[in-house]
Amino acid sequence: MKWIKLISIFTFIALFSTVNSEAAEPEQVHLSTTGIPGEMIVQWGTEEDTMVSCPSDNIVEYGTDNDNLNLSENGNSNMYLWTTCTHTTQLQNLNPNTTYYYRVGGEGEWSSVYSFKTIKENPDKIIIGAIADHGTSSNAQETTSNMENENLDLVIHPGDISYANGAGSGNGVGDQSVWDEYQNQIESLTSECPHMYAPGNHEEDAEPYGFDAYESRFFNPGQNSFWYSFDFEFIHFVSISSEHDYEPGSTQHTWLRNDLEDANNNREKYPWIVIFAHRPMYSSNGDGDGHGSEIEFREAMEGLLFDYQVDLAIWGHDHHYERTYPVFEENVYSNNSGNLDDPFYKPGATIHIVAGMAGRSTYDGLEEPQPLWSAYREVSYGYTFFEATKTTINYKFIRNSDLSVGDEFWITNTIGSEIHTEIPDNTNHSINDTQEKTIIEQIKELNYIGTPLTVIIMATTAIFSLKLRKK
Ligand SMILES: [Fe+2]
Repeated sequence: MKWIKLISIFTFIALFSTVNSEAAEPEQVHLSTTGIPGEMIVQWGTEEDTMVSCPSDNIVEYGTDNDNLNLSENGNSNMYLWTTCTHTTQLQNLNPNTTYYYRVGGEGEWSSVYSFKTIKENPDKIIIGAIADHGTSSNAQETTSNMENENLDLVIHPGDISYANGAGSGNGVGDQSVWDEYQNQIESLTSECPHMYAPGNHEEDAEPYGFDAYESRFFNPGQNSFWYSFDFEFIHFVSISSEHDYEPGSTQHTWLRNDLEDANNNREKYPWIVIFAHRPMYSSNGDGDGHGSEIEFREAMEGLLFDYQVDLAIWGHDHHYERTYPVFEENVYSNNSGNLDDPFYKPGATIHIVAGMAGRSTYDGLEEPQPLWSAYREVSYGYTFFEATKTTINYKFIRNSDLSVGDEFWITNTIGSEIHTEIPDNTNHSINDTQEKTIIEQIKELNYIGTPLTVIIMATTAIFSLKLRKK
């Protein structure tokens, strides 16, 4: 039977190895980050005539003058069982607070010129976008174009990205060209702002693909495509996978424990920990099988989020927006409103967000009554983003329909303070004198406000609300 095997292999090679020595036109330009200031990862795709080799170059020409791209960097490329070649080139030693213009490709085929702006040195604030369950619908495209107006420094995407596999995990080989379509549709945003991903169930295709498209098309700075972390200004970001083994004792679980332990010991430098993955530990949208709170995932990993005081967890999978109170094992740790005059202050447990409203579809399966841990939920298309300083996070859900704010909340923190882990005996946790002093100092540090009047108003309202809570 050996000769049959040999004939099959030669047939395969004959079919797919018609090597085109000419470069293909660059497309699907997208940025990602190592987290290191002064670095940017530039990626793009070329559609080749073969699945086995990539003749197109990996060059980025760039500079601070649109008409003089005087710097050049080379990178590498990879392919999977598809004709799209992904090129990855790392730029280093970029100046802060600078607009860089760039084009990608090489001799014979250059892209048009794109641009991105680096973050200024020691910024007062950064702006992070977060969406999941995106796809290629008109609603998805509206989300992308609305996000372009937010001056985002980074976008995190907790999975179900293009829906190339269409039918869902393991239900047949999808259409890989949907990945190309998606990455071209979102290019206007991804070419100017780095994106970082976590794998969703729709990133897994039937064999022989598996997660190949996800792994091939997107950079991440970890040893592993499915769980990795990076520091980005004030925030330690952790991307994990709800699609791989996460049970205690698994490689992923052990890695997460070590990573969060290190991050929690490094709060002085990176005061916030934000985790993201696809399936939600908390969701009250149970529309259809396999939706709602992912109980097994929660039972396996929520303890780590609590032990190391992860501030925010951002999920997708359910196609709506939802935000919990700070919660652990379904117990609410603080029922502050989260408004500017009543922010969550070291709440002691993680606030969970479901951001699956980016465009694929909406789910109308909100459970009634609304669980006590659910602070806000809405079935509308839109996007989320948050502004982070060293001491505050201000999170917003924006509706696509009229760009109004559907939900907004504030968390405050104080660098160097002990993390509050006491379990209060009711949902209105008490604040002692030491904490009162700290929160006043905290509010004085809110440099994102910019106007002394606002600082005075915030300090007054915070002291007033503390006194009310004491009564
Ligand atoms: Fe999903």
